Amino acid sequence: MPVPQAPKIMDETTRKELAAWLEFYQELGIEGFFRRDSSTAAPLPGLAAAKPASPEIVTQKTAASRSTAPASGALAARPPAASSAPSAASAAAHPSQQAIRPPAPTFNLFEAAPAPRSGPETLEQIREDLGDCQRCKLAPTRKTIVFGEGNPRAELMFIGEGPGADEDEQGLPFVGRAGKLLNRMMETVGLKRADVYICNVVKCRPPGNRTPEKDEVDACSPFLYRQIESVKPRLICCLGAPAVRTVLGIKEGITKIRGRFYDFAGTKALATVHPAYVLRNPREEKILREDFEKIREYLKAAPPSQDL
Ligand code: URA
Repeated sequence: MPVPQAPKIMDETTRKELAAWLEFYQELGIEGFFRRDSSTAAPLPGLAAAKPASPEIVTQKTAASRSTAPASGALAARPPAASSAPSAASAAAHPSQQAIRPPAPTFNLFEAAPAPRSGPETLEQIREDLGDCQRCKLAPTRKTIVFGEGNPRAELMFIGEGPGADEDEQGLPFVGRAGKLLNRMMETVGLKRADVYICNVVKCRPPGNRTPEKDEVDACSPFLYRQIESVKPRLICCLGAPAVRTVLGIKEGITKIRGRFYDFAGTKALATVHPAYVLRNPREEKILREDFEKIREYLKAAPPSQDL
């Protein structure tokens, strides 16, 4: 039976040091501190690893410096820092966790900590906000908005370009031929569709399956960024050039940069070719397989620490 731990009392020096740090953070515009005992904190999805039981301090930026609705792309991609494989160290450090902490109320650090009242935005809330979207010129020709599908706590998130005819009919992403290939690729590396989250850069089918245009991407991508922020995947997989351009801001040809890991606001993102490209060029299936092996390797590595 676990022995209850007596609460630790902070010594005066530590207390003063901590107070100085808090003052410093407040000057930087970061406030709203609360003490959280990580033994009671909900684990992140898929992170079964035991956490140290010491209390941790979670900081939350003020509304002015925090973006809750990244309409202007608040999770703007950092300058691409490509690497052919993520290091164990980079897998362990996961700064995105800091960016997407739930809002914390402001209160005295030395009082008992109330539980945070609200968590991060849910996918349902984002879908509700999208509503019967008429924000761009794709609206009049679409049949269905294809918001996204899958595990809201997925470790892996696929981002495609936009719905095709089958997706437009069914309201679900990647259910046509490209989707079948995606499912098969997932199976080859032991992933189940139900475990991942899948969505697209634009949520409505471009007529004739043309590439989404800039104004359409601009209107829709804030919802994509919010989906990423809500799911908080460990790894994003950008399928094809439009996803790479939107998420990572990289305009280079996909066949040049595929297979590399980049950084999206602290989350690793792998660029690979779109399954539809492989359907048109069946000999290229091997490169998609190669990249899915990288996904497997990445997810197999030790999950990141939740500590800040
Ligand atoms: N292609 C995409 O990019 N997305 C889909 O959902 C289907 C095909």
